[in-house]
Amino acid sequence: MRAEDPRPVRLADYRPSDFLIDEVHLDFDLEPSATRVTATLKMRPNPAGDAGAALSLDGDELKLISAAIDGAPLAADELDVSPSNLRIANPPRGPFELTIVTEIDPAANTRLMGLYRSNASYTTQCEAEGFRRITYFLDRPDVLAVYTTRVAGPKDETPVLLSNGNLVEQGELDGGRHFAVWHDPHPKPSYLFALVAGDLGVVEDSFTTVGGRGVALKVFVEHGKEDRALHAMESIKASMKWDEEVFGREYDLDVFMVVAVSHFNMGAMENKGLNVFNDKYVLASPETATDGDYANIEAIIAHEYFHNWTGNRITCRDWFQLCLKEGLTVFRDQEFTSDRRSRPVKRISDVRNLRALQFAEDAGPLAHPVRPQIYHEINNFYTPTVYEKGAEVIRMLKVWIGDDAFRAGMDLYFDRHDGEACTIEQFVACFAETSGRDLTQWMRWYGQAGTPEVIARTAYDASARTFTVEATQKTRPTPGQPTKQPVVIPLVLGLVGPDGADVDLKVGGEKAGPVFTFDRETLRVVFEDVAERPVASLFRNFSAPVKLSSDLTNDDLLFLAARDSDPFNRWQALQTVALRHLVQSTDAVREGRSIAEEPRIAEAVGRAFAPDETDCAYAAQVASLPSEGDVAREIGENVDPEAIHRARSELKGRLRDSLGDALEAAFERLAETGPYSPDPASAGRRALKVAALDLLAAGGARTGVERAHGLYISAGNMTDRVMSLQVLSLSATPEREEALADFAQRYGDDPLLMDKWFLIQASSPLPDTLDRVEALMAAPTFDMKNPNRVRSLIGAFGAANPTQFNRPDGRGYAFVAGVAAELNTSNPQVAARLLGSFRTWRALEPTRRAKAEHALRALASTADLSPDVADIVRRALA
Ligand code: PHE
Ligand code: ZN
Repeated sequence: MRAEDPRPVRLADYRPSDFLIDEVHLDFDLEPSATRVTATLKMRPNPAGDAGAALSLDGDELKLISAAIDGAPLAADELDVSPSNLRIANPPRGPFELTIVTEIDPAANTRLMGLYRSNASYTTQCEAEGFRRITYFLDRPDVLAVYTTRVAGPKDETPVLLSNGNLVEQGELDGGRHFAVWHDPHPKPSYLFALVAGDLGVVEDSFTTVGGRGVALKVFVEHGKEDRALHAMESIKASMKWDEEVFGREYDLDVFMVVAVSHFNMGAMENKGLNVFNDKYVLASPETATDGDYANIEAIIAHEYFHNWTGNRITCRDWFQLCLKEGLTVFRDQEFTSDRRSRPVKRISDVRNLRALQFAEDAGPLAHPVRPQIYHEINNFYTPTVYEKGAEVIRMLKVWIGDDAFRAGMDLYFDRHDGEACTIEQFVACFAETSGRDLTQWMRWYGQAGTPEVIARTAYDASARTFTVEATQKTRPTPGQPTKQPVVIPLVLGLVGPDGADVDLKVGGEKAGPVFTFDRETLRVVFEDVAERPVASLFRNFSAPVKLSSDLTNDDLLFLAARDSDPFNRWQALQTVALRHLVQSTDAVREGRSIAEEPRIAEAVGRAFAPDETDCAYAAQVASLPSEGDVAREIGENVDPEAIHRARSELKGRLRDSLGDALEAAFERLAETGPYSPDPASAGRRALKVAALDLLAAGGARTGVERAHGLYISAGNMTDRVMSLQVLSLSATPEREEALADFAQRYGDDPLLMDKWFLIQASSPLPDTLDRVEALMAAPTFDMKNPNRVRSLIGAFGAANPTQFNRPDGRGYAFVAGVAAELNTSNPQVAARLLGSFRTWRALEPTRRAKAEHALRALASTADLSPDVADIVRRALA
């Protein structure tokens, strides 16, 4: 690790920029290894800044060719330049024009930030701080400028030349070159700049906005993959329409473009008018994509499109405010999906994901507030906390102040702040105004890290006809925050009477609820006129991101699982029973005792496979047990992943034994009949079929494995093929090897399908998995320079394989840390992300904990760690 701690960035130190940039004129002369960039910046001192300040521009690995002010070249003694900074001590004190020429090497750019090559194309990634790898700039989100971009390149290699905004000019140049000029009238921060050039295929369509603007829609993909872009195109149109209908937001340029690229550090990027996507989240056809792929593409297209208003029109003042755009935009894409598909199923899968990633992060050494106060490397704050918990905070706000005040607050926010770079305070103030509520305490959700733990007790008093709910909240210390204060928790609850109907809620002689404000350590609500003992259904629809434990008995929970009118809590109730059982079973495994019987779990799971079940997507969620990670989090400390795996496998085996016939019948009944369609109902049937198959094949049971193999071979769609392969991968059988070989044979040419093949093998709990993963790194289809390959093999091994990553011999830790060390220089961002699998290392039992620590310490002592990797390692070990 580097000797001294690099200086952190603190929210408290925010100061407005000393200079503003009103216009940016960029001229790119594309050459693979020596691209010339001429930037002409119309600048002026910022009245809100420091009047006599020097002009200090950000750079990153830049080579300056020349600099001039108002046309006069700057002499060497007038500027101070390094690859990471350009400083002009005495710039003009009025408006001026600064011209900077830099030379950059896209072909050598393996970090995939700034301008880089992916296959034969050029593309950019500027969020968060990539623009400074293109030219020296005030690379901060509160400097908004109008951009005009001229791109010139060879006609044969780069027939397509794109940038933000509208195309204003194009023409021929000498030497087989041509150019295009793009103008984006909407002022934007540099992180939203984009350029794409290459030989790409395109799918075109159009959309007419409510206001009558005709918008050309274009999706660019590799030649020959145009038919795989149609689903993305449909998703764009659906997103545009939805944002008009639900948020009143209209698109604002004549063209909206999406480009799919093969090399991308993240999922996708919302550059103004020119979204750049990881091709994994664009390309889909019935032959190549699973139901999950179709759903992801729709959601991510929507997410990036929705950023046009929440992120682009209104952006962030500084990077501490990242959740202002990300939490809000995740909330918006979740709502979009809920409206298009099943709302309860979407909620359940979002909550599963929140718990698996964000609750895990919040409980470990990398915990941080939704709005951090300090960072060393902003790239490491694109986290489940900023995104997913950020979205939960917005969802809670809506529940707490009500739909109307929420919608009015959004309208006010758009009206008031359009064209600005904002803070969370400015956003929240809009809702304080429309709801008339004091949101001071609300801000703790943004400032306080950690998942609040709620303990609820209930009591029925038959003679007084009252039912009391008492809840306490507590948040444990997190790094840098030893003491915590109560947060405002909207507790949505219902009381379910013995007949399954909700009891009318009456408190203090008046009709009450269903939203209760729980903003102190203890909340006590006494419900009146309750004729019979009800069962409390707490946190309906997961009304707050808290960890709940209650005194509800398994009988109560199983009653809710059958009768609660809230579909989320019907699902949750059975999960809670199963989770309690799995925690006890894990103890039993560790202590060498036999595992207790809990036949009622099978009974409840069995209902999901009943012949009259029509909501298959929901039933599939009911039938899916808590994950090994869920059990680990519930246990919390001294975790033995192997014991959890054995306990969970045992439960699956028992479910198979008691439900066998129903599972077989469901599997038969849910077989495909017509041609493939990714619609939610059909996808739900496939999900339920796979849930049945997964149980049938539990523990490598012969008939189940044979069925899985049969489905693999006869599969008429990629979902069946991939899911059956996944089931086969769980046990060591000849069918598994045969199917894996067949898959590689069939799809060896398709990188995205080979990613699924890597991922399935990397997440198998079999003991030889690590050996395989190491061997697969040498496969010709594997490529360390491609983040998707790295994530599908090493990332999946670390994040989706609890037993093998956590091998008791520590090899799993050493392996992942070793790959991170290897990627440290070539792509620090991807390297740092791989280390996310260490986020729960402190909760492990002592032997594994020591091995994990050893791997982290070895990495920490590596020379020349990048800021990205050093930051994660330092915090993980602190
Ligand atoms: N802003 C992108 C999104 O969430 C994510 C991203 C961050 C992409 C940083 C690239 C780099 O939509
Ligand atoms: Zn986003």
